Parts: sequence; C-alpha cells; structure tokens
Amino acid sequence: MKKNILVIPGDGIGPEVTQWGKAVLEQIAISFNHEFNFDEALMGHAAIEATGNPLPDETLEKARKSDAILFGAVGHAKYDNDPSLKVRPEQGLLKIRKELGLYANLRPILLFDELLNASSIKAHILRGTDILFFRELTGDVYFGEKTRSEDKNTASDLMIYHKYEIERIAHKAYEAAMQRGRKLCSVDKANVLESSRLWRETVQEIAKQYPEVETQHLFVDNAAMQLIKDPKQFDVVLTANLFGDILTDEASQIAGSMGMLASASIGDGTGFFEPIHGSAHDITGKDLANPLASILSVALMLEISFGLKEEAQLIISTIDRVLKDGYRTSDIADDSTSPYKVLGTQDMGKLVLKFITQQT
Ligand code: NAD
Ligand code: IPM
Ligand code: MN
Repeated sequence: MKKNILVIPGDGIGPEVTQWGKAVLEQIAISFNHEFNFDEALMGHAAIEATGNPLPDETLEKARKSDAILFGAVGHAKYDNDPSLKVRPEQGLLKIRKELGLYANLRPILLFDELLNASSIKAHILRGTDILFFRELTGDVYFGEKTRSEDKNTASDLMIYHKYEIERIAHKAYEAAMQRGRKLCSVDKANVLESSRLWRETVQEIAKQYPEVETQHLFVDNAAMQLIKDPKQFDVVLTANLFGDILTDEASQIAGSMGMLASASIGDGTGFFEPIHGSAHDITGKDLANPLASILSVALMLEISFGLKEEAQLIISTIDRVLKDGYRTSDIADDSTSPYKVLGTQDMGKLVLKFITQQT
C-alpha cells in the first residue's frame, strides 16, 4: 500500500513523542512491504516563531493533500502565562480541525491489564474497562462567537450547536456501538443548557434508528462521577466538544496516564491522529514523555484511515508485550517501581521498534 503521511510535531513534547510514532510507521512499512512517504509541517508555537501564523497556509495545503496526518501537540508556557496574547498556538489546532471537517474525535480508553496498578483507581474497579469516547470536535463553545467588552471587564463565549452537527456525530457513535457492546451513553447538561436540550432531543431521535443499541443519557456532572465510580458500565460515550475534552483527560486515569491515550479525528476527508495530551511544558526536554500515546495514534491511523488491521493489532500487542516484560516510562510506573525497568522516551521508543522488528 502506498500512502502520503504528513507529520506535524508541534511544540513541547510533541516532537519528542511524534518521532517515535513516525519511526513505528517506518518500521511497519518495512515489515509489511508498504510505501509510506512522509512530509513535515509546522503548527502552533513553532509555526508562530517561523511565520507569525499558528497554522500557515502551507501546512493546510500539505494536510489537504495527504492521506493521513500524525500530530504531536501544541502549546507554550509563554501563552499560558499571558492570556492577553492574541495569536496563540492552540488556534492552529482548532483551525485545522475546522478546515479539514474533523467533526468526530474518537478517544479509546484502552486499558492494558499490566497497567491496572498504574491508575489512581482501584484495580478491581478498572478491570475489564473498554470505553470509546466520541467527542464532537468542530462545534460548541469552542467555535461560538467570542466577545470582550470595551472596558475589558465582561467576556462571553457562545455555546452553540446546530442539529446537523449533532446528527452526524451521533450516527458515527451509534455505528461504532453496533460493532461493540451495543451500549451508548450520551452526556450533556440538558437540565440547564439549551444547546444540550437540542443535543438530547437529537440523540433521542437518532436512537430510534438503532433499536439494538441500549441508549442512556447522563448529565455531565454525574457522568464525571460515574466514570471513576464504575467505568465498566460504559461502552460508547457520545458527548459535546467541551465535555468530551474534560471527561477524556479524567478517563486517562483509567488507562493509567495521559501518555497512554490516543485519538483519531475523522470527518469529511483526511484523518488526523494525535495523543490526547498537550505539549507538557513540565517535562519537555527531559526524556520523560511517554511515547506510547503517539504510537497508539499510529495504530488508529493504520486501522481507520488505511484499513490495515493486522498492522494496527501488531502495534497494540507489541505494547502489551513491552509492558508485560516490565518496561515502563515513569508516568506509568506505580509506587512500587523497583520491579520495573523505568525507561525514558528514547529507550521506550527504541524498545517498541525492536519488538516490532522481532515479530515480523
Ligand atoms: P498536558 O496534557 O500537556 O499535561 C498534563 C499533565 O500530563 C502534565 O503533568 C504532563 O507532564 C502530563 N503528561 C502529558 N503527556 C504526557 C506524556 N506523554 N507522558 C508523560 N506525562 C504526560 O496539559 P497542560 O499542562 O494543561 O497543557 C500544556 C500545554 O499543552 C498548554 O499550552 C495547552 O494549551 C496545550 N495542550 C495542547 C493539546 C494538544 O495539542 N492537543 C492538548 C492539551 C493541552
Ligand atoms: C485537546 C486539547 C485542545 C482542545 C486544545 C489545545 C485546543 O486540550 O486536544 O484535547 O481543547 O481540544
Ligand atoms: Mn484536551
């Protein structure tokens, strides 16, 4: 198979982890006789520094022409510490999501048995958890009108949904539920928000087209609690952009770490694959970042964009083996780290590559 893949490393730990996602793609190409051609582009702070624009036209053009995109993360402490800066790294990510029509963000909560003790939640509560989040990605309060009064003392962000935006992601989530445990939980705040009332009405309508799927509606505050109380109750979770952002960072603790959660953003065209984590200034440049979320994002790319299930499965089973052999990055090494072999980003990446080579 011949594919053109655009790599956008971004900022902070983005380049540190994306290097290993790309290296795994290169190894998969060799092992399975595919031709993956790579190009690279700027986004975020790196792009602002080089061009003044967090999403240069050149990046967008390359993105549109590619068959899939592997992204790292954007963000820089400078902007986090100064909210008044007008041009910001995150604008690049939001714009590319909108421009490419990436309205569905799939965030699987894939829990490796070996990491049951890496979580802050008790192992018996976690065991057997397998959740797939569908986070709406191009609407909501992220993209509604933003205002600031002249005296600067009043600000607003419009939380807005159109019915078609809810319908299209609901269909995607129900289709996935049909292939999985046939349970779907839609999360909203319909007891307070009008946009959530539209969300709930629309999901109730779509649900009628999927009678085999058991549908549940939860308010987001309750859902946040239930996720920690009894994560096994969930199969597919469907939710809006902001709620999905927050709930999936919370859910990363089910999998053990932010460094374990991958995501696929899909919609009208090219698929976009990225870890759910950010640029993590606190660990940048220290060889501490867990590269497995980027490598798992590559597995999602192979399966979803290219239909290469065997290759994707090989990546997942390789990570399972690495963990079973006792290798950990520090974020997934629990309190009793001594029996483990704690590796930095580079060594973990190299080990995954070595194990993939050995198995093919
Ligand atoms: P973050 O996800 O960068 O980090 C949160 C915590 O998780 C930190 O303690 C970090 O060290 C840890 N962590 C994250 N990824 C890890 C990994 N691979 N291995 C080990 N530990 C990991 O969130 P934040 O600190 O709130 O944000 C930092 C910057 O990243 C901000 O500028 C923010 O806007 C940006 N951000 C970008 C994205 C993205 O590009 N998709 C996502 C989230 C945040
Ligand atoms: C994510 C991030 C982004 C979001 C930010 C950086 C715009 O937190 O991808 O989860 O909120 O969507
Ligand atoms: Mn987030």
